[in-house]
Amino acid sequence: MIANACEMSAKARDGRYAVAQININNLEWTKAVLETAEELKSPIILGVSKSAAKYMAGFSTVAAMVRAMDAELDISVPVALHLDHGTYEDALACVKTGFTSIMFDGSRLSIEENLEKTKELVKIAREKGLSLEAEVGSIGGVEDGIVGMGEIANPEHCALMAALGIDLLAAGIGNIHGIYPKDWKGLDFDALAKIHEAAGAVPLVLHGGTGIPEEMIKKAISLGVSKINVNTECQLSFAAATRGYIEKGLDQTNKGYDPRKLLVPGAKAIKATIKEKIQLFGSECKA
Ligand code: 13P
Repeated sequence: MIANACEMSAKARDGRYAVAQININNLEWTKAVLETAEELKSPIILGVSKSAAKYMAGFSTVAAMVRAMDAELDISVPVALHLDHGTYEDALACVKTGFTSIMFDGSRLSIEENLEKTKELVKIAREKGLSLEAEVGSIGGVEDGIVGMGEIANPEHCALMAALGIDLLAAGIGNIHGIYPKDWKGLDFDALAKIHEAAGAVPLVLHGGTGIPEEMIKKAISLGVSKINVNTECQLSFAAATRGYIEKGLDQTNKGYDPRKLLVPGAKAIKATIKEKIQLFGSECKA
């Protein structure tokens, strides 16, 4: 059931669990996410970055595919179709093409400009019935060619952002996109506690969910994190399973080169990863 992320994230905040945002890359990925969420009766957020949308032939193609698949597979759990790290222009494009949730990432702008653009998008989101995520303090690592240094967000900026009426707030607390380096210092929970206090009731988002140890995930949820984004971990599971299939020579027997066979181990591996995340985040049976 296609929905925005307002109700699911407010329920997660009140119930002290987190909804997973799983980024999608193609049809197989999308199907794996929807089927796993349905199986576990969990709400789910499909994350789509601009470059992933470009790969899948544009935002409108993605929206049409997700909406049609949701209907064809008779998905009963709430599914939000969410723009990940969008610019102001990407946000407007997604509003037009049938996304139900938008992340405007103005973290590289001045705080004044970030607030101003976010305020405009809150108004549009309210008019169209969409959820809006804003970002303060850039997330570390490389995503879509954007290098973030992993700033710790300023709680005063978080309070100003929260006061605009956003639905979700992504705030840097030492989290990084992609694989964490060996010398990573971990999440900054003192910063998270201050941000949580400053943001009041606004559910917080933890980006860079790949590879964060279980205890840190649980502690982050206890401090107000209600949405956790995972992308790289599914890509790693998919790649490892696909490599295993080819290394065993299975693509060379029984028409194993057929994509309907070749891509199955990878899709199964993505499903196992998503299941693990949903259970760890606590959103199973919360649809
Ligand atoms: P990872 O790729 O590190 O899991 O991060 C995903 C993410 O935060 C998408 O916005």
